[in-house]
Amino acid sequence: MTDKDLEDLFENNRVWADSKTRMDRDYFTRLCEMQNPDYLWIGCSDSRVPANEIVGLQPGELFVHRNVANVVPHSDLNCLSVIQFAVEALNVRHIIVTGHYGCGGIRAAMENRDHGQIENWLAHIKDIYSLHYDEIMAIDDPEARADRLCELNVATQVRNVAKTSIVQNAWKQGKKLKIHGWVYSLTDGILHDLNVSIESAGQFHPVYRISDMDGD
Ligand code: CO
Repeated sequence: MTDKDLEDLFENNRVWADSKTRMDRDYFTRLCEMQNPDYLWIGCSDSRVPANEIVGLQPGELFVHRNVANVVPHSDLNCLSVIQFAVEALNVRHIIVTGHYGCGGIRAAMENRDHGQIENWLAHIKDIYSLHYDEIMAIDDPEARADRLCELNVATQVRNVAKTSIVQNAWKQGKKLKIHGWVYSLTDGILHDLNVSIESAGQFHPVYRISDMDGD
């Protein structure tokens, strides 16, 4: 039996499914057959940043991966598997890393308080914080400092996506694939392009380049 406080969700679901088929009788039949999204979204788990909704895309149009503070660690099998499927099976043309101002994960990473296990995840953000510490601390407003770290985190994760063997191999095969970094503002619902897009291996440090031959 469904928990009483979850009944609303099932009721909402029936209303939603009904409204879809009323507008388009074959809606679910068509979605069952295939998904053909052009974009992979890598965003924060924050409930206030609903991926599909803020870019006006319908089911089937956006492949999504979300975690705390939109981090793409080099060896995270979960995130890497999503990227592989999106690039190799779905042939997405764009991978969009989207951070958001006011991110709790970013704020927590800037504290020295023990938040438990998540400290091990937030350490990825602390790496970026320490690397850009002087630039960030030169900002007076603590809120603006956190916002700047949000942006620096997005730019770093864009590079991390680009450095994966998956993306580099796609480029070698001549696939058109571009990685973008955006930030979402909770205060007005507006997305901003941070202009940190990468579309070739020439755009990050050569030590990360994977070539078939040395010097290639
Ligand atoms: Co967040």
